[in-house]
Amino acid sequence: MSGLRGVGKTVLLNELAGGAIADGWIVGKVEADRGESRRPFREQVAGTLNRALREATGSLEIAARLRRALATFKAFSLKTDPTGGLAIGIEIDSERGRGDTGSLDTDLTDLALDLASAAAELGVGVALFIDELQDLSKSELGAVCQACHEAGQRGAQFYVVGAGLPSLPGALADARSYAERLFDYWTIGVLTAGAAADALVRPSQAAGVTWDDEAVRLLVQRSAAYPYFLQEFGKATWDFAPGPSITRDDAEAGMRVGTASLDRGFFTSRWERAAPSERDYMRAMAVDEDGPSQSGEVARRMDKRISSVGPTRAGLIHKGLVYSPEHGLIAFTVPGMADFINRQPAG
Ligand SMILES: Nc1ncnc2c1ncn2[C@@H]1O[C@H](COP(=O)(O)OP(=O)(O)OP(=O)(O)O)[C@@H](O)[C@H]1O
Ligand SMILES: [Mg+2]
Repeated sequence: MSGLRGVGKTVLLNELAGGAIADGWIVGKVEADRGESRRPFREQVAGTLNRALREATGSLEIAARLRRALATFKAFSLKTDPTGGLAIGIEIDSERGRGDTGSLDTDLTDLALDLASAAAELGVGVALFIDELQDLSKSELGAVCQACHEAGQRGAQFYVVGAGLPSLPGALADARSYAERLFDYWTIGVLTAGAAADALVRPSQAAGVTWDDEAVRLLVQRSAAYPYFLQEFGKATWDFAPGPSITRDDAEAGMRVGTASLDRGFFTSRWERAAPSERDYMRAMAVDEDGPSQSGEVARRMDKRISSVGPTRAGLIHKGLVYSPEHGLIAFTVPGMADFINRQPAG
């Protein structure tokens, strides 16, 4: 799933993971991000699967294939944490030569196949959910692709469900050319007007509160049916409304409070993360409103050559503030950013 910030990708990912867990699948969930503090991907995978496997083994007799999968898992995790901290509770000898070659491609594939084979014996599958997938390194993405590719070819029930920014499909294709054919791609965008109205009205209904049509219409329109804005405007309106129903005046007040709150938090935190030269770059982009902008045109507006603003552009991409929807284009990762920037005093 790919889409801009705040469209509901993580919410959807958690929902899907919850469904797989409820069905008794072996489920892992990791969040890749570019922060310095992120643990190596192998360690993240080992950490999340440790929990899942302990649950699977706690409730069931350890069948032969599960025993083998556990041994591979242990070898895989020992490679990233030789002290065995990630294999706690897995009382089994690690399998030599499975999952511990040190090459992530090979080891993740071995682990995926052995886990899927064990899961099949239990009548379930294996799913690894990865949020912010675009932030894995190229070689990590390659390993994910390879594991899925081999699992697919052998009919093994191992699935990776990923979510990330619009740059994700490109990053995957860059890691393995066959990635285009390997995954199902879903673009997550704004809600339909009907769904946006439901997001406001239904939770209120459950609490016995109704909305005037005009109030709903205003918030749906002003949020552009963008989930995170609906959340902010809806919350502020709910907090403001004296009741018994929610009126257009309440929605107007909620809009004002919600906009101020977005400005203070959501947008300002992004703006402050940018260095002065990066802000100049974003100001030049904001001329195109929500964009996208042509990189060459942005440089021209700054009176600079495209090569000399390259590092600034790369810095902004690295910070997750902008992305390149296609070659030569650049766009903000959140809607409404340009409008916010255009409201900031110059300097
Ligand atoms: N189905 C939903 N029902 C109710 N609220 C939702 C739903 N989807 C999204 N939201 C609201 O939108 C907010 C943003 O959703 P979420 O964090 O999943 O976005 P995201 O696409 O993962 O963003 P990011 O790229 O920043 O991680 C949520 O905190 C919630 O307020
Ligand atoms: Mg998210």
